[in-house]
Amino acid sequence: MRIVVTGSIAYDYLMSFPGDFLEHVKPDKLQKLSLSFLVDEMQKQRGGCAANIAFTLALLGERPLLMGTVGEDFVAYRSWLEEHGVDTSATVKIPGLFTASFFATTDQHQSQIASFYTGAMSHARDLSFHELASPGDWAIISPNDPAVMVKYPRECRELGIAYIYDPSQQIVRSTPEELRQGLTGADILILNDYEFELLKERVAMTAEELRVAVKRALIVTQGAAGALIWADEKIQIPAVTPEQILDPTGVGDAFRAGLLKGLALGVDWTAAGRIGSLAATYVLETQGPQAHAYTLSEFVTRYVSVFGPDEFSEAAISG
Ligand SMILES: Nc1ncnc2c1ncn2[C@@H]1O[C@H](COP(=O)(O)OP(=O)(O)OP(=O)(O)O)[C@@H](O)[C@H]1O
Ligand SMILES: [Mg+2]
Repeated sequence: MRIVVTGSIAYDYLMSFPGDFLEHVKPDKLQKLSLSFLVDEMQKQRGGCAANIAFTLALLGERPLLMGTVGEDFVAYRSWLEEHGVDTSATVKIPGLFTASFFATTDQHQSQIASFYTGAMSHARDLSFHELASPGDWAIISPNDPAVMVKYPRECRELGIAYIYDPSQQIVRSTPEELRQGLTGADILILNDYEFELLKERVAMTAEELRVAVKRALIVTQGAAGALIWADEKIQIPAVTPEQILDPTGVGDAFRAGLLKGLALGVDWTAAGRIGSLAATYVLETQGPQAHAYTLSEFVTRYVSVFGPDEFSEAAISG
C-alpha cells in the first residue's frame, strides 16, 4: 500500500538559557526591546510533522512517500530518511532557501521564546497530488503551508485517495470555511483534545456533526489518557505507560504513523489505535521526534507484552 505523507519538514534548533528571561526584561525599557541570551546548550533536531510521521512509518516497515518542499540544507536529512526507508522522491528542493526552521530558547523556568521560519515550506503550495507518479492509497495532510490545507484535501477527493485530515496548529490560522472544506469528505479527522474543542468552536459544529462530515472515523488523542476512536461506535484506546518520559515532542506524529500502519495492514480500529499508542510511547522515551529505533519484530514483541496477541500481531508476523 502506498502512503503519501504531507506536512511540515523542519529542523528544530533548541537552546537552553541557564537563567530567568524575566530578570533581563526591564519594564521601563519596553519601547525598544533588545535582548540577547548567552545559551549553554543547543540541539539541532530533525523534525516537522510529515518527516516525523514518515520516519516512524518506515521503522514500522512501510515505505511512505514524503511529499513536501525543503531547502539547500536538507542533504544530510534526506540521507537519514532514505537510510531508514522513507521515499523522498517527492521531497522537492527549493534553490536558495533554507528548510523550515524552528528556533526556541527555553529558560530555567520553562519560559520560551521561539520563532518559526517557514522557508522552503512556503513552496508546498506549488506541489500537487495530480503530479505524483502514483497517487497513493492513503494520504495524511498534516500542518503545512496554510494554502495547502485546502488544496491537498481537494486533490485527494478528486483523485479518490483516502485521506486523514490533521489540522492541529493550523486551526488558529485557518478560516472556518477553509477548515470545513478540508475536513468534509476526509476519511479520518484526527486532533488532540484541546484542538478538538478549538475546532468545534471555530467551525461551529458539534462532535456529532463532525463525525458525520468524515467518512470513517473521528479520532481525538488525549495524552496520557489515550485516544478516542469514533468510527461506527466509540472505542477508547489506552495509552502505553512509558518506562521514562524524556521528551514529548512528536508523540502526536508517532500516534498518526502507528494508525497509518494499522490502516495499511487493514486491521480493526482497536489494533490500529494500539499501534498508535505504542509508537507514541517510544517517542516519549527518547529525546526528539526521530531518536527512537526498533525493528518491526521488536515492536511486535513489546506490543504483545502490553496488549496480548491480536489482529496486528498476527498480521505483522504473517506479513
Ligand atoms: N504521558 C503519556 N503516557 C503515555 N502515552 C502518552 C502520553 N502522552 C501522550 N501519549 C500518547 O500519545 C498520543 C498523542 O498524545 P497527545 O494527545 O498528547 O498528542 P499531541 O498533543 O498532538 O502531541 P504533540 O505534542 O506531538 O502535538 C496519545 O493518544 C497517547 O497514546
Ligand atoms: Mg499534536
